[in-house]
Amino acid sequence: MPIPADPAFDSTLSFLREGYDYIGNRCRRLGSDIFTARLMLRPVTCIAGEDAARHFYDGEHFTRVGAMPPTTVRLLQDKGSVQALDGAAHRARKAMFLAMMDDAAIHAAGDMFDRQWDRALRRWREAGAITFHDEAVRLCTATACEWIGLSLGRASLDKRAEEQAAMVAGAGSVGPNLARGLWLRRRSERWARRVIHALRDGRLAADSQTPIARLATFRDANGALLDRKTAGVELLNLLRPTVAVARFLTFAGLALHEHPAAAQWLGDARDPARVHAFAQEVRRYYPFFPVIGGRVRKPFTWRGHDFGDGDWVLLGLHATNHDPRLWDRPERFDPARRPESLDDGFRLVPQGAGDHAADHRCPGEWLTLELMRRAIVRLRALGAAVPPQDLTVPLDRFPTLPRSGLRLRMPAGDG
Ligand code: HEM
Repeated sequence: MPIPADPAFDSTLSFLREGYDYIGNRCRRLGSDIFTARLMLRPVTCIAGEDAARHFYDGEHFTRVGAMPPTTVRLLQDKGSVQALDGAAHRARKAMFLAMMDDAAIHAAGDMFDRQWDRALRRWREAGAITFHDEAVRLCTATACEWIGLSLGRASLDKRAEEQAAMVAGAGSVGPNLARGLWLRRRSERWARRVIHALRDGRLAADSQTPIARLATFRDANGALLDRKTAGVELLNLLRPTVAVARFLTFAGLALHEHPAAAQWLGDARDPARVHAFAQEVRRYYPFFPVIGGRVRKPFTWRGHDFGDGDWVLLGLHATNHDPRLWDRPERFDPARRPESLDDGFRLVPQGAGDHAADHRCPGEWLTLELMRRAIVRLRALGAAVPPQDLTVPLDRFPTLPRSGLRLRMPAGDG
């Protein structure tokens, strides 16, 4: 039986206009978790939901090569990165990333974040008011560099923060945001290559357990060190997404403000299980990456549809996180649903799905959650006020943010 099709000749404009909701809207309208469409004049199959995620992330049927617009790839993972690898080469490189993420390392990153927050707090109080997303970018950059094993001065940290934030902001854009992202990416790559070079020739020292030391000494499946360019790309693949966590921290702050019942449920954030559930619901509810693209590398059939070699497929991440078959009243922010307790690895998919080691699921999930939990506790204790501002979250910007960046007024006195 043929699967439903988006009737438009080309849906690029609808995709840009409806943004995060494009796939979910079509799935509801067509009564199907699979449909075909044409985007950028290319035929594509869009899929969403738990079963779709299970097929997309089954470790063997898809490659990421040629699956996203070249500028998005360039600003996010880039050529030569772990995301561009398949099979044994992917598993070997991915194991390096996963080795960085043991419990002790994640906890240490959380402690680093807390210390950065304490330092920033003095400045915030003097200023009286802050734009939280800007501050979160600085906190995440400083934490990421320390965790990676790099000791940078303020000026270098500011440059790194500017570069990483511009890459993330430019990834789904055209025009000036894209041009700025590409320009600052080149600057950041030059810096990253210099760091790798300095480490390898001994001008820079790092403990052997730090992510930067692991990366500089990692040998690929063929036994060779990564060339300097590739190692630099992977250094940015640690730094940039950790800086992007600032967006989830901002959404956590927004959730505390715009969902008072949920904030009340969280209370004074002393119950770690509730803090964790709150962080998970932020990751489920708020929009980050709308889709992930793949191309079929091993043909298969699903829902009676033949997925042929090279076919382009988009898995709706946001659509799956809001799938009414999986989530009761998905448009309600409700941390009491404890999203992770319902998850089998294929329902809550803001950072991909399935087995981290065998497929492309994000190795940074534990770090992301740790920084979110720390920030939620701190935001709760901050007692800042949210003055009137434009907090709307446009759904046609990828990735998106509240328009104002979440301005906060520090409490009078000690706060
Ligand atoms: C992969 C999202 C944080 C490093 C991914 C994927 C998604 C994602 C959706 C899967 C891509 C695919 O299936 O092809 C996010 C979001 C984050 C985040 C929304 C929070 C802001 C992090 C952090 C790190 C990281 C903190 C590292 C410290 C990576 C890497 C990959 C990846 C290296 C490629 C994995 C592979 O190809 O096997 N991320 N990520 N991410 N992420 Fe994250």
